[in-house]
Formats: sequence, C-alpha cells, structure tokens
Amino acid sequence: MNGKINASKLALELIKDGITLGIGSGTTVEIFLNLLGEKIRKEGLTVYGIPSSYQAMMTAIKNGIKTVDFAEKEPDICIDGADQVDAELNCIKGAGGAMMREKIVAFASRRVIIIVDESKLSEKLTAKVPVEILPFAYGYVFRKLSDICKPKLREGNGKVGPVITDNGNFILDCDFGTIESPEEVERRIKSIPGVLETGIFPSKVISAIIVGSHKCARMIENIHK
Ligand code: A5P
Repeated sequence: MNGKINASKLALELIKDGITLGIGSGTTVEIFLNLLGEKIRKEGLTVYGIPSSYQAMMTAIKNGIKTVDFAEKEPDICIDGADQVDAELNCIKGAGGAMMREKIVAFASRRVIIIVDESKLSEKLTAKVPVEILPFAYGYVFRKLSDICKPKLREGNGKVGPVITDNGNFILDCDFGTIESPEEVERRIKSIPGVLETGIFPSKVISAIIVGSHKCARMIENIHK
C-alpha cells in the first residue's frame, strides 16, 4: 500500500490549477484521486477530468474534480496505474476491466504518467493480457485466440457468468507466457474481427512511470518516446 501512496504523492506534484486530467482506473488511481481531493480542498484548485470508468467517475466527483467530455477538453496529463511494466516501459493493463476507455484516454492525453508500486516491475511482460471483445463474437474470437495463446473468459464476483465491462462487452484473459514483442502480440490479437481492445499499452504512448516503494518514489522518463 505504501508504494502506491508514495507514487501517488509524487504524481500529485504534477497537478496545477486549471489542468485537465485523463483519469485511469484501479486502486492506485483511487488513492491518487483521494489525495488530489485533499489538495483541491486545501488549495482551492480547479481540476477537470475525463474518467475512464464508472469507478473513476464516481471517485473523481467525490473528490471535487469537474468531470468533462472529450468534446469540451483535451487532457493535459493522463494518470493511470498498470498491472505490469517491462524494462522498456510497455505495460499490461485491464485487471479492473477498464482498458478500452483507459487506452482512449491515454492516447488522447498530451502526457501519460503511469503510477505503480515496485511489485509491478518486470524485465519482460508475463501477465495475462485482457482482451475486450464483442459478446456476439465470443465463440469465434475464443477459437482464433486459442491458436496463439490460452484465453479464459473473465467471470464475475457477485454475479454468475461473464464480467460485463462498462461498455457492455466480455473480457478474455489471454496467457501468452513471456511476451518478447508486445507490439506484435497486440497486432495479432487486433487482427481478429470482434476484438475491440487489448490491455497492452505500448511504450510509445507512455511518457513516464512513477514507481513507489515503502519509503519514497521515483520518476522514470521514457527516453525512447
Ligand atoms: C484497470 O482496468 C486497470 O488497467 C488498472 O489501471 C490496473 O489494473 C492497475 O490497477 P491497480 O492500481 O488496482 O493495481
């Protein structure tokens, strides 16, 4: 927990009055938004935000962030978490099922800052890749994905059957083992009709990672971007 808090605190330093945020999802972003809420109250800041999920929207509103739409604002900075980050700063996201809107928010933002604790760092990507699919295409996409990985339909807690995303779709969690080329894996998954988005966030979209430990946090700029 400390790692997530320390990463969030460092990210807070990037927030200026009048900024528009692209808001990711997940527990780390929730910590960040709660800290940001305190800063907004103390300093009287105005912060706009485009949230990537119902969770992000509810937490943002609770913390005094003015939620807006892409038609009104362009995000200056996207703040988001990740499930795994490799040595080149490619990320896997989507354990919370929000990767489709998260990816739109990230690509639409001028800068993308990923906040993680140290446990998320890995030399290579090995986590399962969440893939959002159109329910109509489920059987077809499952068979096609089975040729290149081990897919598994994500099932819910508190409801029987598949998890339904904020967009009304299914998620397949896909085991590719160790991923040598994230962009190639992304390309192959996306070549299947019925696939809507994947949880692979290529390094080229990431501006920097903030890594929090028990004691402190550090920012790693993406020198390849
Ligand atoms: C949501 O779908 C995800 O992409 C999250 O951003 C990611 O799973 C990180 O979540 P935590 O901050 O909860 O670890």
